[in-house]
Amino acid sequence: MSPKKRQQRPSETTPPLRVAFIGAGSIADLHLRLLEKRNDVNITAFADVNERVLDQRRAQFPSAGIFANYKQMLSQDKPDAVCVCTPNKLHAAPTIDALRAGCHVLVEKPMAMNMVDARRMVKAASQSTGQLIIGFQHRYDPRTQYLRKVFEEGGFGNVLYGRVQALRRRGIPNWGVFGRKEVQGGGPLIDIGIHALEMAHYAIGSPNPISASADMFTYIGDKPSNRVVSMWPDWDYKTYNVEDLAIGRIRFANGAVLTLESSFAAHIGPNSLMNFEILGDKGGATWEPTVVHTDESGHMVNKTPAWLPDHGFETVFQLKMDGFVDHVKYNQPTICPATDGLMVQAMLDALYRSADKGGRETKITL
Ligand SMILES: NC(=O)c1ccc[n+]([C@@H]2O[C@H](COP(=O)([O-])OP(=O)(O)OC[C@H]3O[C@@H](n4cnc5c(N)ncnc54)[C@H](O)[C@@H]3O)[C@@H](O)[C@H]2O)c1
Repeated sequence: MSPKKRQQRPSETTPPLRVAFIGAGSIADLHLRLLEKRNDVNITAFADVNERVLDQRRAQFPSAGIFANYKQMLSQDKPDAVCVCTPNKLHAAPTIDALRAGCHVLVEKPMAMNMVDARRMVKAASQSTGQLIIGFQHRYDPRTQYLRKVFEEGGFGNVLYGRVQALRRRGIPNWGVFGRKEVQGGGPLIDIGIHALEMAHYAIGSPNPISASADMFTYIGDKPSNRVVSMWPDWDYKTYNVEDLAIGRIRFANGAVLTLESSFAAHIGPNSLMNFEILGDKGGATWEPTVVHTDESGHMVNKTPAWLPDHGFETVFQLKMDGFVDHVKYNQPTICPATDGLMVQAMLDALYRSADKGGRETKITL
């Protein structure tokens, strides 16, 4: 059964947004499913280097253009907008080429492998008629939105500290290239730590990071999976050269400090744990469960929202896809600008550089 189409906006008089894909693998699948729910979007083309993936998209979208080379796709299909869903190393070049072709770009997280590439992307966006948006969905989560509102209303006072966690008990990816530093830029920190980091950073008002330090450890991913039980066995341990566990500390220009724990293989109770806590001089909070801790009427109180909108993974991801289309097609404000992506990239970059230098404090230049 085809998905339900969204109601047409009353103001909508322009032709549908023509969206193409560079990288048409697993996350592209979700982008497609959610974009298809809109009647103001047409999926026009796919570029991928994997024949099998292209065959699958050809069968699903018979009228779409199918390309083995994304540059050809840009010049022949001439899409209005592009979703870049390639492995991390291949975010920068297609994004820059698409922006130069005048396309709007939604690039999946992380925006790049490193700051050098991220800066080039932001520069290309500044010289393009196209907009560059970063695929951060967790800031759309109603729990994050609530805490951001509490922050904006001064409910935390000065934020002093954030504790951020993105941990899996034994969840080393056994697909894609997630264990290869040369194409991903790193392991769990850049793959899942980024989710918790981007939303926590957004919730505390996106302060400027100034320095970071980190320690990283590899102890399971580089060994055969038959030695241990795992959610996803048979990962490629021979090519695995990223961290299993990253512990980081980031300082901000406003004096706040944030610590971050991220792992594909942490000996913790739950199978997976994503959360953040905020401590300010007037109040604090946890994201999950969503509770604000503060003083009221001469007492210490814990406040829980009586109701929050659905925050299932697909619902939140739909908000991200809608946010992109509404921004580039209807000039609605975005909460995922490239400048936020650059700050998050700067933090990740500094954490990896610090770990390479034995955990030394590393300066961040935006
Ligand atoms: N926002 C999220 O929650 C989320 C979730 C999963 C993945 N991601 C991100 O999406 C990106 C892709 O991850 P995935 O899980 O879809 O990986 P994947 O391996 O399933 O898909 C990547 C696709 O890119 C294609 N590709 C590789 N080189 C290419 C090139 N030169 N030109 C065109 N296509 C090329 C591959 O053939 C593959 O089909 C990663 O950056 C990842 O971090 C984001």
